Amino acid sequence: MIDGKTKLAGVMGWPVEHSRSPMMHNYWCKVHGVNGAYVPLSTKPELFEPALRGLGAAGFRGVNVTIPHKEAAMRACDQLTDTAKRAGAVNTIVFENGQIIGDCTDGTGFCDNLTAHGVQISGRALVLGAGGAARAVVAALLDRGCEVIIANRTMERAEAMISALGEGEAVEWFDWPSLLPGCSLLVNATSLGMHGRQDMDWDAALIQSGPNLCVTDIVYTPRETPLLLAARRRGLITVDGLGMLIHQARAGFRAWFGYDPQADDATFELLADSLR
Ligand SMILES: NC(=O)c1ccc[n+]([C@@H]2O[C@H](COP(=O)([O-])OP(=O)(O)OC[C@H]3O[C@@H](n4cnc5c(N)ncnc54)[C@H](OP(=O)(O)O)[C@@H]3O)[C@@H](O)[C@H]2O)c1
Repeated sequence: MIDGKTKLAGVMGWPVEHSRSPMMHNYWCKVHGVNGAYVPLSTKPELFEPALRGLGAAGFRGVNVTIPHKEAAMRACDQLTDTAKRAGAVNTIVFENGQIIGDCTDGTGFCDNLTAHGVQISGRALVLGAGGAARAVVAALLDRGCEVIIANRTMERAEAMISALGEGEAVEWFDWPSLLPGCSLLVNATSLGMHGRQDMDWDAALIQSGPNLCVTDIVYTPRETPLLLAARRRGLITVDGLGMLIHQARAGFRAWFGYDPQADDATFELLADSLR
């Protein structure tokens, strides 16, 4: 029951109806016995900043920020964590002592998901994509000591990302399959393979992969993407993107509600069910 002591948080997006975050956070509130509520906050881009400040003024603990507000959130925050600066985006905000503090948990969520699957994060990683999510992933891999190669359809975008991060190597989009020998990790951080989006011939692309390659996709609709299916057929280790979605949410829940929620089977089931 919501009362005067209920801790409030939510997700700002436009549109926001598709977001699974309310389901996940409210489930965790229930599991941990937290007097908390997490609501979808449908926010037009032109009203993002006043809406954000208003939520802080109204006593919200914090918010998640999703498409299309992740870059606008960077400008609106009073303080940014180093991780948010590296990622060039904010997805998790805490209101503290009148300040708006922005963090980006996508990179940590990505790495925590791999670690939870027993994947060692080291060696050479090939990342496909140079959009918002790719930058958070690349920054996290570089910060954990990986050598990172980036292939993006639009080369200039990959080069801009590398120059912002000060590290990494860009290669032509059509060359990436030939670089698979010697890579320990392949990450799809493009929207290829997502329901209703364009796709490619992953079977052909993976022909040169070594037997120890781990293949992961940050797209999670469908849960087993065409890339993951092709990798599984080749006997490679695969990790799907649903765990990233769950792990990236944990830091916000900890900050707002005071508990470290676990990415347990029940949480996976809940989200997987809602995506079916
Ligand atoms: N698992 C999670 O928790 C999580 C978190 C965040 C995002 N995601 C998913 O990650 C994906 C990317 O998100 P984003 O925010 O980074 O999107 P974004 O900023 O729009 O970037 C899209 C990326 O996909 C590439 N791309 C699009 N169509 C392509 C095509 N036909 N061929 C080759 N490359 C193509 C783009 O290349 P160009 O630069 O050439 O256009 C760009 O690199 C989405 O599916 C999103 O749902 C998952």
